[in-house]
Amino acid sequence: MSAARGSLLGIESLEAAEILKILKFARRMNPNKPRPLLKGKRIFLLFYEPSTRTRSSFEIAAKSLGAQTVLVQTMGSSIEKGESLLDTGYTLRAVGADVIVIRHPNSGAPYVMAQHIDIPVINAGDGLHEHPSQALLDAYTILSNKRRIQGLQIAIIGDIFHSRVARSACHLLTKLGAKVILCGPPELVPDVAATLAPTIRVTRHLEDALRGADVVMLLRVQKERLAGLRIDLSEYIARYQMTPARLKTAKKDAILMHPGPIIRGLELTGEIADGPQSRILEEVHNGVQTRMAILARAVGKMR
Ligand code: NCD
Repeated sequence: MSAARGSLLGIESLEAAEILKILKFARRMNPNKPRPLLKGKRIFLLFYEPSTRTRSSFEIAAKSLGAQTVLVQTMGSSIEKGESLLDTGYTLRAVGADVIVIRHPNSGAPYVMAQHIDIPVINAGDGLHEHPSQALLDAYTILSNKRRIQGLQIAIIGDIFHSRVARSACHLLTKLGAKVILCGPPELVPDVAATLAPTIRVTRHLEDALRGADVVMLLRVQKERLAGLRIDLSEYIARYQMTPARLKTAKKDAILMHPGPIIRGLELTGEIADGPQSRILEEVHNGVQTRMAILARAVGKMR
């Protein structure tokens, strides 16, 4: 079986035209003006990993469109008792799920689910692989600040190796014609990252990444995934932490993004997080309408 129509498993397999269609539809969505596009639908939020922004915004998005939502988390569900991913999927389908939104620590888990369950599956982050709704909301945020993505220079700095956000962003931004520069130490940004998509470059030097950047995207150092890697955090801070003085190297009107959760004092200072160039909370805000569009698309209502 192939994935049900309306599934969103990753950005890599999406055409640029489809990405633009979702972004255009998201502009018409407004959580304060509810529309019954999902009336009578049951959206299951199946979260095997912690989440604040993604989970709550999918829930608000679904409810704003008139759906019922059910949250299933590892703790407190039969997953704790050892039920397999697919058995959980079959169970949710039998309970009456119309769409499953899934976050899972294993890369590919949403694909496995989508191959076996005949309802749309939305990837809310799978392992080190993709986080398509985050890439879409980030593109939405860039577009609403810069009016275009084509030709922009976008620096992505931090733990790219462990970041599904970075992977999805690289696919999306290069499909829409941006120049992407990845920056960080070799343990977090291996040279091979440049092969993710065309027009991607890797640099170890923050200044090099920042010079001429229209958008600066920071990523969290994912300490929980660093086992086995020797990362000296004080050295990381010394070389890569974003500070007001360093951000001056980017274009004057550059915007500063971060998918969250942010760790003040590590990848950025508090002044940067709260500063005038920061769009961090705007990204979170835009997540709701972007996810409204994703859910409407899942049930065939993106017209
Ligand atoms: C990210 C994730 O979980 O992939 N957060 C998010 O969804 N906004 C990034 C992270 O955990 O650092």
